[in-house]
Amino acid sequence: MGRIAMLMNRAETLLVNSTPRRWLQRFYEIQVLLRFGGRLLPRARALEIGCGSGYGSQLVLERFGAGRVDAVDLDPAMIERAGQRLARYGDRVRLAQGSATDLRSALNAGDSDYDAVFDFGIVHHIPDWRAAIAEVGRVLVPGGRFYFEEVTAHALARPIYQRLFDHPTEDRFTAEQFIDELAHHGLVVLGSVTRISGDYLLGVAAKPIPARSDG
Ligand SMILES: C[S@@+](CC[C@H](N)C(=O)[O-])C[C@H]1O[C@@H](n2cnc3c(N)ncnc32)[C@H](O)[C@@H]1O
Repeated sequence: MGRIAMLMNRAETLLVNSTPRRWLQRFYEIQVLLRFGGRLLPRARALEIGCGSGYGSQLVLERFGAGRVDAVDLDPAMIERAGQRLARYGDRVRLAQGSATDLRSALNAGDSDYDAVFDFGIVHHIPDWRAAIAEVGRVLVPGGRFYFEEVTAHALARPIYQRLFDHPTEDRFTAEQFIDELAHHGLVVLGSVTRISGDYLLGVAAKPIPARSDG
């Protein structure tokens, strides 16, 4: 597979789409992200990278209150599933197959096009994960927010991950490296980051509004 491609294997697809995972996302992850970053304004334009079957985008609309969501996934089968789940939202949702590392090609996304970007456990799947963070920084409007839930190198090195799932093996990130990369693209963590045993991190980072120079 190429440098941008790392699809989920069967075991991970089953896990990600399982009821326990949905519950975890709805009753824990979303609560943490809402506590750090709050709800969006009613007309907010949101983007979900690596949307999988679209459950996260549904939560972005219903729990975060986004006006509309664009969602991208590398796997065409996932985009098809997401299309079925999200059909009822009509033109509030736009789906595209493509890579989070090149949102211009995938969605024709320009600079500062989004008020919020959501990452529910996808950046660790991307070999060139820094390119995905750079894209998040580019497409966010000043004042916009990046809501993230990620899996670290520490988790990916665990025997259970190695046995069951397929992930890139090189250049994975610790929580600190992920946060450093956000800073490298001008994204400032709001408050603190929730870390779970060095394996997972959840938080929200903002793209600052440039100070006005009056004079
Ligand atoms: C662990 S799943 C998470 C799916 C979804 N966010 C969720 O929480 O249910 C990772 C997803 O990222 C997608 N993916 C992997 N590499 C990608 C890339 N470069 N750009 C966009 N999506 C990607 C996979 O196809 C998969 O749907």
